[in-house]
Amino acid sequence: MKILVTGASGQFGRRAAERLLEILEPGELVLVSRRPESLADFARRGVEVRAGDFDQPHSLDSAFAGIDRLLLISTDSVGAKRRRQHGNAIAALKRTGVGHVVYTSFIGASVDNPAISASEHGATEALLRATGIPCTFLRDSQYSEAIAQFVAPDALLTGRWMTATGEGQIGLVSREDCVACAVAVLTGSGHENKVYNLTGPELLSYRQCAQLTAEYGGGPVEYIPCSEEQKYAFFDALGVPRKIEGDGPIAGPIPWPSEEMVSFERALREGYFAVLSDDVKTLIGRPPISLRQIFEQYSATIQAAVAAQSAAR
Ligand SMILES: NC(=O)c1ccc[n+]([C@@H]2O[C@H](COP(=O)([O-])OP(=O)(O)OC[C@H]3O[C@@H](n4cnc5c(N)ncnc54)[C@H](OP(=O)(O)O)[C@@H]3O)[C@@H](O)[C@H]2O)c1
Repeated sequence: MKILVTGASGQFGRRAAERLLEILEPGELVLVSRRPESLADFARRGVEVRAGDFDQPHSLDSAFAGIDRLLLISTDSVGAKRRRQHGNAIAALKRTGVGHVVYTSFIGASVDNPAISASEHGATEALLRATGIPCTFLRDSQYSEAIAQFVAPDALLTGRWMTATGEGQIGLVSREDCVACAVAVLTGSGHENKVYNLTGPELLSYRQCAQLTAEYGGGPVEYIPCSEEQKYAFFDALGVPRKIEGDGPIAGPIPWPSEEMVSFERALREGYFAVLSDDVKTLIGRPPISLRQIFEQYSATIQAAVAAQSAAR
């Protein structure tokens, strides 16, 4: 059995590779990345590392050759570029005859979801279904690590959490749990043509997340509900472009256009992400990690990020 992980140098891919190696022999694992040199530590352990870039379709035939199961990690791009990248990867999966594809999708993935990213995941799922290759869609909710590492430090520093999400709720999930689920599916059986909703243990609004941030961060965080136009104006003032021009790169302080982030907030407000499921427990045999647990785990990181941001101002 040969199992391949695409995008293996990213946070998700690297953790998946580490956990797969706890189960597989090194010779059973293949890692693909645009930067194979960044995976030299795995190569030294006997893992085959191949070059592969979804922007370079010709690189993917050799990258995907001879593989039984493949973890397709979505790229970090947005819009037409990401759709093209995923389309190139899926065309190569068909050409190379991969036996089973496990895809890191997003909660509420559907072409009808107002969130640009969730609609792109819906389009990718449809492309994968159309190939006829057995697939498993892992619909990861928003990562609680992203709240702890990026959103919470900023809220603590400014004392504000301004959002157009209203009282909408989302089942934040730990990336680590999503990695564990991906490994369980890749190394288990009976997961073909299934969709798993990977959520944490509870639905939370961003108002509740702001309260938890204040509780664990030790500082006041005012929750400020705003309109989509106010959120656009906030990003405009930071110099974030509303739309992507061509293929990017995106100029400005945040690597996404504001329409991506505001459309995400709209979808959250309108209930598109309000999904709670037992699928994490079903796949890994224990309850999912909560946001409170992540805050405890990341408390030093949060304080360090607040201090670093404060010093930089
Ligand atoms: N559910 C959530 O809240 C959430 C949050 C963040 C991200 N995500 C999604 O989950 C994915 C993995 O997250 P992460 O935290 O590991 O992100 P990350 O560390 O930023 O890694 C980015 C990933 O995109 C891959 N990639 C970028 N351009 C590519 C290309 N042209 N061809 C092939 N692969 C390409 C990278 O692969 P190499 O660099 O190895 O080539 C890497 O796996 C993200 O890309 C995003 O789609 C979900």
